[in-house]
Amino acid sequence: MTPDSKPLVAVTRPNLPGAGLERLRGAADLAVWESPLAPDPDDLAELARDAEILLCLHGDPVSASLLDRLPRLRLIAIASVGYDTVDVGAAAARGIAVTNTPGVLDEATADLAFALILAARRRLVEGALYVRSGSWTKNDLGLLVGYDVHSTSLGLVGYGAIARAVARRAAGFGMRLRHYARTRADDALSVWTPLDHLLRESDIVSIHTPLSPETRGMIGRRELDLMKPTATLVNTARGPVVDEAALIDTLRERRIFSAGLDVQVLEPNPNPDHPLHTLDNCVVVPHIGSATVSARAAMIDLAVDNALAHLAGRPLLTEVSV
Ligand code: DGY
Repeated sequence: MTPDSKPLVAVTRPNLPGAGLERLRGAADLAVWESPLAPDPDDLAELARDAEILLCLHGDPVSASLLDRLPRLRLIAIASVGYDTVDVGAAAARGIAVTNTPGVLDEATADLAFALILAARRRLVEGALYVRSGSWTKNDLGLLVGYDVHSTSLGLVGYGAIARAVARRAAGFGMRLRHYARTRADDALSVWTPLDHLLRESDIVSIHTPLSPETRGMIGRRELDLMKPTATLVNTARGPVVDEAALIDTLRERRIFSAGLDVQVLEPNPNPDHPLHTLDNCVVVPHIGSATVSARAAMIDLAVDNALAHLAGRPLLTEVSV
């Protein structure tokens, strides 16, 4: 850095939504990765070699070995509420702060969870494909019959801000709510319930827990076997919370009715023949929980606000605790 140069911020995608980056340009020089595909670790190390701040997305893993190659880094501002891809402990050990973007995408993600509930219960994707293929030649009372959403019981695994936003929507559908979370507390909408009981009793189970060593594989074969044969599993949290091989077997053998997934173990997953992409009782979308114009702009804005706070020596707005 020369005497008049500004601090460097490495940004891992071009064309980020909203006007956040323009605000950052006043206070910092930007090194922007110019491909829409995520940089690999070597590219990221090169891009951020002299950076004080890394503004990245959930698809950009930040490991201890990457951090060893970024000696000037002081802040990782991830534009995502989940920060399971960042080695937060390794960052703390090197004096690097980490911020995420809680609060700004809860309602958008809850909308998508509800869309998946409706799609997977009422067979919306099968119906759309049926019409598109020209198969709709008769009206038939047996055509694409699914299961109710209204007046059913919904089990929420994890009870943070997104789960509560789903709970508020579910109340309007007359659903009975249970949740399982570390804190054993009921509220006006939902009753805390042990996980096994929730899985046995719920018509719809929706996952909202962050990915951590404790939650990885938490919904495995045993847990899926507890669910009703008429039940639906929805996951808008992180793929590895569910044992994917067990879920594929369960759906294939029709031991539950359906699943709706926004997340998978490996992302992105362009394989059209992947079982989750071909099973007719599984609705899959490509990790778009927060993909609304306003939520995506707010995520970048909050990441930028954290970067600006760091550069001005002010307290960070949403620092992740180790
Ligand atoms: C989040 O913010 O955690 C979303 O899943 C996008 O990564």
